[in-house]
Amino acid sequence: MKHFLHVDDIDSTASWLSLAAECKKEPFKFEKKGKGKVLGLLFFNNSLRTRLSTQRAAYHLGMHCMTMNIGNEGWALEFEDGTIMDQGKAEHIREAARVISQYCDVLGVRAFASLKDREKDEAEQVLHGFKKYATIPILNLESATGHPLQALADLITITEYQQTTRPKVVLSWAPHPRALPQAVPNSFAGIMKNNPQFDFSITHPKGYELNPEIVRDIPVFHDQNEALKDADFVYVKNWSASRPYGAVLSDDPHWMITREKLGKAYFMHCLPVRRNVIVEDAVLDSSNSLVIEQANNRTFAAQVALMKILESL
Ligand code: CP
Repeated sequence: MKHFLHVDDIDSTASWLSLAAECKKEPFKFEKKGKGKVLGLLFFNNSLRTRLSTQRAAYHLGMHCMTMNIGNEGWALEFEDGTIMDQGKAEHIREAARVISQYCDVLGVRAFASLKDREKDEAEQVLHGFKKYATIPILNLESATGHPLQALADLITITEYQQTTRPKVVLSWAPHPRALPQAVPNSFAGIMKNNPQFDFSITHPKGYELNPEIVRDIPVFHDQNEALKDADFVYVKNWSASRPYGAVLSDDPHWMITREKLGKAYFMHCLPVRRNVIVEDAVLDSSNSLVIEQANNRTFAAQVALMKILESL
């Protein structure tokens, strides 16, 4: 049984990319792979792309899909062991995960970081709770520390648009009024690190350091203009600070991506994006923007991950 929890679960980039291209060319080519199988999708947080693209991917594979906004439709779940459950939590993950495993063959889970309790977020309490107690494979639909399906879609998009063998790819922080998790930049940096054919670097204001275990020897710039020079792809995302955990330390509008800063590079963002906060209209409305294609590739990233899981059943 194979889970898809992390970008490191992509065992061969070349074969996953080749399969994604095959699925994109002929989406229903493998529609018998999932016949008679049920995909369950549990959302503790909002979604547009992840929910619809994963449902679409399941449809391409002939799977039946059941989706639940468990965060506001289900019983509040307890994840701690030994708790006296006399407060708001009505059901324990130990029962919930095993019950769901009887209804589904594969289970997707979305559960964002709380940004309040670093220890629980880094331990991936929700995702790993389902992995521990479910008896079926788990698909990460964005967890506290990672969004591997997004990173795979981003990698597919870059390989489709790259014009040189070693394109320069820059991950840039941009301002946002609310505290956002580090899941997307973590997974994007992780997939870039696993694919050293890209000339990859990161730029952010001081204080927004990502997990050093992920960044390791990836070049980091605090001068955005210096980082963006001669870039081929600029991947833009806001994230909150590590110290204090979940803090918004800066909303400096000078970090917003403009046409002038982007130059000839392609613009990438996972969406949803706040116009004229993260990026100006002129970039999103230009032919340099790949955001719609990235969102399209979410379907094929999910389709490949589901196929790999189905093969392991
Ligand atoms: N990029 C992404 O995961 O989009 P949603 O939050 O809408 O699913």
